[in-house]
Amino acid sequence: EPIKLVVIVGSLRKASINRKLATALERMLPDGIQASRAGIGELPLYNQEYDADFPAPATAFKAAIEAADALLFVTPEYNHSIPGVLKNAIDFASRPAGRSSFGGKLAAIAGASPGRTASALSQQHLRNVLAAMGVLTMPTPEALVQFSEGLIDDEGRINDERTRTALQKFIDSYVQWLQVQLRR
Ligand code: FNR
Repeated sequence: EPIKLVVIVGSLRKASINRKLATALERMLPDGIQASRAGIGELPLYNQEYDADFPAPATAFKAAIEAADALLFVTPEYNHSIPGVLKNAIDFASRPAGRSSFGGKLAAIAGASPGRTASALSQQHLRNVLAAMGVLTMPTPEALVQFSEGLIDDEGRINDERTRTALQKFIDSYVQWLQVQLRR
């Protein structure tokens, strides 16, 4: 049985550097990990009235989380926190009350930004939110990518040796941590 990993990108734009980072990380996964993406772009804005009648994209997003053994969030930093679209998706999957899709899930967080702090503050905020959802996140190593033009291409190829080594270490550590947590 492969470990089912669901990757969630916290940016909706096509040219997203975090989408490129997600692709690069997926390429580094060893055999035995089955990765897929869960999209958040089709979700409406969460409104508590939806708890009585979930929209189809939200039901699909919840199902994707529930089917996963583990999650990988790859998120931008917006104003020192996570983008609203990512928080919106997490809020949907946490509902209806008592039927959160997150309980007991395992996760790792990665992120890229052109700034020197490379999404560190956004990642810390996300850790807080996930802790409230009962999601256990790998504490270290962190994947903080300061993105410069061309660092990662659309196919996920990394054009810098140090970045490649650090990200491979992040992925290897995550897989090892998952195997311990899942006893596999
Ligand atoms: C940003 N950006 C940004 N960067 C950062 O390092 N710290 C920050 O607080 C912010 N704040 C912020 C707010 C908003 C509304 C936008 C649109 C952007 C810059 C951001 O890191 C950059 O646009 C990335 O390219 C966004 O990630 P994606 O969409 O390329 O994955």
